[in-house]
Amino acid sequence: MKKKFLDLGKHPITNSFLNKIKKNNIKKEFFYNLSVGFDKKNYLVSLMNFVNPKKQYTSKYAHRASQSKTMNKSFAKIASRLKKRFRPKKVLEIGSNDGVFIKNFKRNNVIAVEPCSNLAKITRQNNFKTYNDFWSKKLAKKIIKQNKKKDLIYSANTISHIPNLNEVFSAVSLTLSKNGVFVFEDPYIGAVVKINSYDQFYDEHVHLFSLLSLSKILSKTDLKVFDIEIIKTHGGSIRFYVCKKNAKFKKTKNLKKVKLLEIKQQLHKFDTYRKFSSRVKKSKRDLRNLLSKLKAKNKKIISYGATYKSTTVFNYCNIGKKFIDYVIDTTPNKQGKFTPGKHLPIISPEKGLDNKVDYAFLGAWNFEKEIKQKEKSFLKRGGKFIVHVPKVRII
Ligand code: TYD
Repeated sequence: MKKKFLDLGKHPITNSFLNKIKKNNIKKEFFYNLSVGFDKKNYLVSLMNFVNPKKQYTSKYAHRASQSKTMNKSFAKIASRLKKRFRPKKVLEIGSNDGVFIKNFKRNNVIAVEPCSNLAKITRQNNFKTYNDFWSKKLAKKIIKQNKKKDLIYSANTISHIPNLNEVFSAVSLTLSKNGVFVFEDPYIGAVVKINSYDQFYDEHVHLFSLLSLSKILSKTDLKVFDIEIIKTHGGSIRFYVCKKNAKFKKTKNLKKVKLLEIKQQLHKFDTYRKFSSRVKKSKRDLRNLLSKLKAKNKKIISYGATYKSTTVFNYCNIGKKFIDYVIDTTPNKQGKFTPGKHLPIISPEKGLDNKVDYAFLGAWNFEKEIKQKEKSFLKRGGKFIVHVPKVRII
């Protein structure tokens, strides 16, 4: 049973960018209540209400992981490390997006699973065997019949999107070879609590894991965690290495280290999340105050990165056209559209980061380094970024 600790109000689906702002479109926009709870039994943080995945992972899915240099580099690096460490002959990726990870493997070694048909089309066009489907036991059975069991299953930013975790891990267990490994990474609840990144909560992030929660969940399966890494990706993620309980892998020292840190951070206590929720409310007040002050001085403020995270921030803090003129984003299929809920126009950085912009709210704060590097001339001429993590401030 989950106990609610945070209520962020009514939210749209983060991927539902609008093509046009017409009365009819706005009337049809789907909203749900975004609130978050803690399950005391499994130590797991999850959304109180799940949106139907068929509404989320459609043929119009906008996010392309290959758009960012940082992500390309980071997927190439983890692919190379996994190849060296496990020497896998048969590889599967769950949630392959536009192929940013699998492109680091030989085509006949790797297969992809991707529910969004527009993305599955991209990897198929690049000649990777792709199943355009949701991850499930049924699909796992089909895959092993056609493609044998896997030595490596990898998944980034996908497992936390799937409501039914029993189904996820049963399907993984069916698909893994005897000494196969399942490596997956997702945003880390430890980082969210630490840096107050409440914008990691949106319709797609239905669970945010810790080692403590995953260990509880896996204790009911034939799988175990044997290694773990806390990584910087997406503002703080956790990467789990999972295998069958009777596989050859021994638990590493990292496990004990992370477990102790999580206990110190009290990630297994409801009170931690109750306190976090107060900090979230303060963050909302601080951001609205800062933007109001800047607007009173007639400053031009835009937002950098039409991220899912900024959809949470803008809808929760009620930040719309009064504060933000428009959003800039490099993703071609986000440009020309409008952000969900607040309907801010999205344009390219070339067009949008003009001389009149005084402040850019960093919706893509997880790429702060890459963006600052890229936008040196904006900073040089006195342009400033606003971030809301770990605290609302101008940088
Ligand atoms: P992402 O990090 O996936 O965040 P979320 O999961 O919250 O959507 O998205 C980053 C967005 O920022 C993506 O739409 C691309 C955009 N972006 C830029 O516009 N310029 C950049 O330099 C970078 C790195 C990203």
